[in-house]
Amino acid sequence: MAKPHVLQVGPYPDWDQTPLDAAFTIHRWWEAADKDAFLAKVGPDIRAIATRGDLGASEAMIAACPKLEMISVFGVGYDSVHLPSCRARGIRVTNTPDVLTDDVADLAVAMLLSLVRQVGPAEAWVRSGDWAAKGVPPLTRKVTGTRAGILGLGRIGAAIGRRLQGFGMDIAYSARSPKPGAEAWTYIPDAVALAERSDHLFIALAATPETRHIVNARVLQALGPEGTLINISRAANVDETALLDALETGQIAGAALDVFEGEPNLNPRFLTAPNILLQPHHGSGTIETRKAMGKLTRDNLTAHFAGQPLLTPVPL
Ligand code: 8YV
Repeated sequence: MAKPHVLQVGPYPDWDQTPLDAAFTIHRWWEAADKDAFLAKVGPDIRAIATRGDLGASEAMIAACPKLEMISVFGVGYDSVHLPSCRARGIRVTNTPDVLTDDVADLAVAMLLSLVRQVGPAEAWVRSGDWAAKGVPPLTRKVTGTRAGILGLGRIGAAIGRRLQGFGMDIAYSARSPKPGAEAWTYIPDAVALAERSDHLFIALAATPETRHIVNARVLQALGPEGTLINISRAANVDETALLDALETGQIAGAALDVFEGEPNLNPRFLTAPNILLQPHHGSGTIETRKAMGKLTRDNLTAHFAGQPLLTPVPL
């Protein structure tokens, strides 16, 4: 039987690429020098798109594939998939929730600890010889027992909260409504009010048009000069200009960021801003989790073409 034609938007590790190539006729979009010409040539054959959370599928890409039936996203976030096109054409979308929750939450907590305890600068102090030359580096701040705010209490937000409980933190969260199971935590729906009562504000929101720039100048002002921001969600949830201004003027104490507008080409102001910890969008970046994400991405494709229920469909 002929293998279904699948458009692949970006590279996967070999352990995913090999089985994908075996099961499907894969067309590598990211390798094409002239992407429009490539899409015009292969688009009419394409029945599925295999993409990544950070790459998505644009309106033009979807439009170039008139026989498209489904989009399988390697990642929990599907904000970069043009959903109106999918809804209009009945194109099914899948993502990879659950399998990456622990890793993303682990990194969020690692970023908080590294930023507040100045792990990077302290290591640089040792390596540069400053320890011997100047003595101990500046003292840092205590994390245990502080107040955390979590914007968005989905799977990842809740996993962050569970970890922060281990640090004796006083936890509050925002969500559309109070979450069952989170009774020990304070529900504060308004982002400004949440920031106001938080020493550390975590962003764990799926990015939607409604959450765009939800962390704006007012939220940062409410977080205040002792407050830190940790973003492991999507850059679009933050007004980056307001954040850079707040960091540069000391309006907030610091920020730890795993995501950036235009990544991997981030605004160069981030490279020189004070009290900032930068990560290359790798919340899910462990071998174990990436293998589980790859398998789920493939299993959804396989289920679709076998006429079986999708494992992790996105509600559209
Ligand atoms: C990316 C992510 O998919 O899960 C998500 O939404 O953003 C990440 O896990 C990852 O960078 C793969 O490229």
